[in-house]
Amino acid sequence: MHTPVTILGIESSCDDTAAALVRGVPGDMTVLSSVVQGQNDLHAGFGGVVPEIAARAHAERLDGAVAAALAEAGVTLDQVDAIGVTCGPGLIGGVVSGVMTAKGLSAATGLPFYGINHLAGHALTPRLTDGAAFPYLMLLVSGGHCQFLIAHGPDRFTRLGGTIDDAPGEAFDKVARLIGLGQPGGPAVETAARTGDPTRFAFPRPLSNKPDCNLSFSGLKTAVLRARDDLVSDHGGLPQQAQADLAASFQQAVADSLGGKTRRALGLYLAENPEAPMMCVAGGVAANMTIRSILETICAEHDVRFSAPPLSLCTDNAAMIAAATIEQMQGRSPDDMTLSARPRMPLDTASAPMIGSGKKGAKA
Ligand code: KG4
Ligand code: ZN
Repeated sequence: MHTPVTILGIESSCDDTAAALVRGVPGDMTVLSSVVQGQNDLHAGFGGVVPEIAARAHAERLDGAVAAALAEAGVTLDQVDAIGVTCGPGLIGGVVSGVMTAKGLSAATGLPFYGINHLAGHALTPRLTDGAAFPYLMLLVSGGHCQFLIAHGPDRFTRLGGTIDDAPGEAFDKVARLIGLGQPGGPAVETAARTGDPTRFAFPRPLSNKPDCNLSFSGLKTAVLRARDDLVSDHGGLPQQAQADLAASFQQAVADSLGGKTRRALGLYLAENPEAPMMCVAGGVAANMTIRSILETICAEHDVRFSAPPLSLCTDNAAMIAAATIEQMQGRSPDDMTLSARPRMPLDTASAPMIGSGKKGAKA
């Protein structure tokens, strides 16, 4: 039987400066506050996240985010039991800012702190939102990551496969730029796709005939580029309907690719005979309703419970880092001042970076 603890979570691995308070025990946790300060305005003029600008903004804003999270939760630092901080993978300057903030707070208060893998934060989110029982199947889809995992325990994940090149969020962001939409690309493409025809362009579903769980998105991006260039040369610009049709056809191709490999991942997961099978999705791309609904349909076909977190817990946040700390702290010691920030940090250390691919290494 665990005693409920109150954890301060800190997240700064990409372009969201986040702090949160979560209280509870493994599998039964409540978010007391979750502050997320985005940086879209700072990076808007550059067409993507600029690591140095992100790191500087995190360093300037983290103290304020922590203070805001404590105030919103009505909690003081002496009521906090421990600090959990993202220590990788991510943009190294941002991760360093978070780790230094946690170390500073720990030095000042004596609170223990735990370095948490950002991907574990996403992968354990269903424990926070649904009290999901292990083992569950997880599809992690974000701007930097794409992998199928079986979560066996708070710190035990088997990677079934993932992207061999771009992450789907990265593809959404690049395609948005190609067809003249704003950043972040995911929500912009999803909005444009609402008025588009998903069948107008026959974009590829790469690797769909391969019997593994690997995916590829870079060829899809090139196909969108070609289609756009043809349209521009025919019309002297990109007509609004064509832009919507490109967005819808691209989104459908991503959803179909993820759906096809979800069937394969479910097959491997169900072979383990879980008692109450469950599939969960997490990461920023999990906010996409077309993708969610395809996954939901496939799970229903297999009698597998499907769970997708609320949008605020799909994209980067610190509540998932605090929750992962509650999940993991019973089984490990706190970190000390030697904790370092890591740009790469695989969740499944036992498996080769890319199962069955031998191509580019995974990003995590
Ligand atoms: O998990 P996240 O906040 O950060 C990473 O760890 O990468 O994911 C951000 C990514 C961005 O690439 C963004 O374009 C994508 O998630 N995204 C979406 C949607 N909302 C955010 N992609 C597709 N559809 C969406 N509605
Ligand atoms: Zn993330």
